[in-house]
Amino acid sequence: MTESVLLVGGGGREHAIARALADSAADLYACAGNRNPGIADLAEAFETLDTTTPPAVVSFAEDVGATLAVIGPEAALEAGVADALDDAGIYTFGPQAEEARIETDKGFQRRFMAEHDIPGCPDFEEFRDTEAACEYIDEYDGDLAVKPAGLTGGKGVRVIGDQVTAAEAKEYIRESGYDRVVLEERLVGEEFTIQGFVANGQLRVTPAVQDHKRAYEGDVGPNTGGMGSYSDASLELPFMVREEYTDAVDIMEAVVDALDGYKGVLYGQFMLTADGIKVVEFNARFGDPEAMNTLPVLTTDFLDVVTAARDGDDLPKLSFRKQATVCKYAVPDGYPTDPDAGAKVTIDEDSAGDALLFYASVDERDDGIYTTTSRSYAVVGVAGSITEAEEIAEDALQRAGTEGLRVRHDIGKPDLVQQRIDHMAELRE
Ligand code: AMP
Ligand code: GLY
Repeated sequence: MTESVLLVGGGGREHAIARALADSAADLYACAGNRNPGIADLAEAFETLDTTTPPAVVSFAEDVGATLAVIGPEAALEAGVADALDDAGIYTFGPQAEEARIETDKGFQRRFMAEHDIPGCPDFEEFRDTEAACEYIDEYDGDLAVKPAGLTGGKGVRVIGDQVTAAEAKEYIRESGYDRVVLEERLVGEEFTIQGFVANGQLRVTPAVQDHKRAYEGDVGPNTGGMGSYSDASLELPFMVREEYTDAVDIMEAVVDALDGYKGVLYGQFMLTADGIKVVEFNARFGDPEAMNTLPVLTTDFLDVVTAARDGDDLPKLSFRKQATVCKYAVPDGYPTDPDAGAKVTIDEDSAGDALLFYASVDERDDGIYTTTSRSYAVVGVAGSITEAEEIAEDALQRAGTEGLRVRHDIGKPDLVQQRIDHMAELRE
């Protein structure tokens, strides 16, 4: 039987998932709030709908006879789209809302780690009372990270001593109106991501990736959803050793053991510090951009993982091409604070040369492609080394066109990678 898979979401991450599913023998259907031309091209049918409204997603899934579903974005998970599809008898690779709290509620995430003795948890406190939070900042010996408990698209955290002063952090808490904030020990080191497939109590992990959250070159400016990312030809990254990668995987194993009935992707965001691996956060889905580094080098059939998950079988062992990847996003001018949405852009997909091009949060209309408030498209170079992959990605950006868009050209360049290596060497001294 050919599986009919419904993919939920219309970003670069979902275009990468769509490509992986299109390489499998599945009929692909997709829905998203924006019409992503790359996904629409691969799908038998594409519906524009609100992916945080479960009945709308279920109705489309039933219309197209979906036998499976894969959910990309966290907002759909939080809204209970996986619950609704599961209830309708359509197995969904993505956790139900209760399990997705590992991402959608940062207070829950830290309490879960503490209760289950998961290693790598920083000192933390959760506050409902704004003034009590401000007092804690005054009294805490050291810097803190201020985190709204709910989803903020990766843009809500403020780190004292890095992005803001203590006074600015207090002003942020007082003015933002979040009903709960988590204050936690500031972690210093180099960040990396590991994404794992989880089902039936099993975890299958992928190579480490480093994302770049800050908007501008040199790691300055506001946090974004991620401006680009790289992975190496091995499991670890150039600033770390294999044992540090496996320490992080052990933490993910401990999480999977403590979770009950979790299915979908578990994303671990780690900080490699002078004292070893600490957990920045967990997410309940693939990373965006990190999925675009990982899925193109996955040689195991993606659909085989999802069907094994559904059928209660052992998940297949994963294999990867031993190649480095560099992903760079082109984003609307002004992103993330004041994005120029609704601008018509020209993206020449066929000119990407040796790179892969993934459409992201753009909207295809009758007369062309328009920006939204989020990232527009990404290119990914895949090669024997990070340096070669970076050159391929840059070449593709030149050809595909970036007029009206902005790119962090420093991502994956030898200078920036070397800075990461030097930073870790300094911290280890
Ligand atoms: P999150 O929304 O939790 O992914 O956080 C966004 C970014 O804030 C992370 O990628 C880190 O760069 C930073 N961050 C979050 N928590 C901490 C922490 N405890 N210490 C230092 N930086 C942090
Ligand atoms: N790239 C960060 C995220 O997907 O959360």
